[in-house]
Amino acid sequence: MSDGSSFYITTPIFYVNDVPHIGHAYTEVAADVLARWHRQSGDDTWSLTGTDEHGQKILRTATANGVTPKEWVDKLVAEAWKPLLEIVDLSNDDFIRTTDERHETNVQKFLQHLYDAGHIYTGEFQGYYCVGCEEYKQPGDLVDGEGDYEGQKVCAIHSKPVELLNEKNYFFRMSAFADQLLALYEERPDFVQPESARNEVVSFVKSGLADLSISRTSFDWGVKVPWDESHVVYVWFDALLNYITAVGYGADDEEFARRWPATHIVGKDILRFHAVIWPAMLLAAGLEVPKQVFGHGWLLVGGEKMSKSKLTGIAPSQIIDTFGSDAFRYYFLRAISFGQDGSFSWEDLAARYQAELANGFGNLASRVIAMVSRYCDGVIPTAGGLTPAEEAIVALERSVTDAASEAISRLAIHEAIASIWELVDALNLYITEQEPWALAKDPANRARLETVLATVVRGLGTLAVLLSPVTPKATAKLWTALGGEGSVTDQRIDRAWEWTGGASVAPLEALFPRIEASGE
Ligand code: ME8
Ligand code: MG
Repeated sequence: MSDGSSFYITTPIFYVNDVPHIGHAYTEVAADVLARWHRQSGDDTWSLTGTDEHGQKILRTATANGVTPKEWVDKLVAEAWKPLLEIVDLSNDDFIRTTDERHETNVQKFLQHLYDAGHIYTGEFQGYYCVGCEEYKQPGDLVDGEGDYEGQKVCAIHSKPVELLNEKNYFFRMSAFADQLLALYEERPDFVQPESARNEVVSFVKSGLADLSISRTSFDWGVKVPWDESHVVYVWFDALLNYITAVGYGADDEEFARRWPATHIVGKDILRFHAVIWPAMLLAAGLEVPKQVFGHGWLLVGGEKMSKSKLTGIAPSQIIDTFGSDAFRYYFLRAISFGQDGSFSWEDLAARYQAELANGFGNLASRVIAMVSRYCDGVIPTAGGLTPAEEAIVALERSVTDAASEAISRLAIHEAIASIWELVDALNLYITEQEPWALAKDPANRARLETVLATVVRGLGTLAVLLSPVTPKATAKLWTALGGEGSVTDQRIDRAWEWTGGASVAPLEALFPRIEASGE
């Protein structure tokens, strides 16, 4: 990561047919940790999230609730989706809605451009449509229904019947880009990640790429096709464009050149849209393809993909009201290898909270601040002669800083946190071995006591900087308690190991307080 280089990261824009659950929050916090990390690495960072508000799914939900689609989306955005950002402590730079004027205008501009360049034609299409996915399905994408849907073919993701649609639509000549896409996957092996996702995408494109129906006439909740207002733009075509309309496409060339291309973080359910359709659209428009598309795994509850449509959804606040946003962020990014599925359980969350956050990190911080207060009147001592034990800590600070940055550059967030935790564990072990409380009993050991305390203070400072993207609330408190200057978020993460301590400590409340057993 070099100074000032551009880093633009996005989440999917979420459907506002319903309220968010922890699956959406998971994507948000993963992208947020990466954004915060890059900001603290000196990169010219921009992070975007937002909402996907057009299409049949939203229209049907609004109608079922007796309101217009605009009334519905305004309410959901204001009452559920914007508040989610506060709840999970997101540091996003922008929030785009597909009903924003800045978006709709430039979707039309993009489409007109493709039309003028001959990439769009009229055609007729019949196929099975899943409104949950907002996508036509191939027969191979369908599975046998169960329960109410016994005897019918249903969507493998939503477990609900598909609908046979027959429409006269505008088509995007996507098939023309198959070879360019295959060359892209070949030339840039990390364009689609993780590896398993890349392989799936490559074999999908190799099996033959069809053209894409990109307009609808059966309803009108969408962006109007500029040359034919009896059609609205297909919701996915509209939605994918958010990534460029949000950074100035069609409106601010300088901003667009500064930000684009992006790193897209998405769930693996929507990987194909991002790794196939989206780059094909960009190639057709003569624009750069994304920097990278990363498909993370699913949060599973009871062995199944957690989802609102299957009523297994857990609201983020159900966890955060009890454990706090830092613990939420830490838990999901630490416990699940980024890119793989992960099962959520309250037991595992509570166990990691207690062992890793409360006992491992929180107690370490409290004990160190308390000892500096008690033994040194709160004045942070300076280290004298270092023994191999201190040298090992200093060396570890340096090596975990480098290892964590390297892991982040591969989007291996769980590995970065695991590296940082080596320092948590090493500092705890160091204190146990050095016994500062025993040293404090004999004034003859004063210099040694000060060296030990100075070493753990600087180690904690390194932790505050390194963990700031993951647990921003706790690390802000810790930084202040350690006498750190300014905001911890302004400290360069790639030089986290350089900090050697502030002037004096300030009181520190428990970073991860004990949780009273609840009925969960
Ligand atoms: O697909 N585990 O929106 P969406 C992990 N609007 N992540 C999950 C999850 C789970 N169980 N459930 C949902 C759409 N997600 C489109 C996107 S982008 C141009 C348009 C997360 O509301 C994950 O990020 O259905 C997944 O890809 C996304 O929510 C789907 O959100
Ligand atoms: Mg979905």
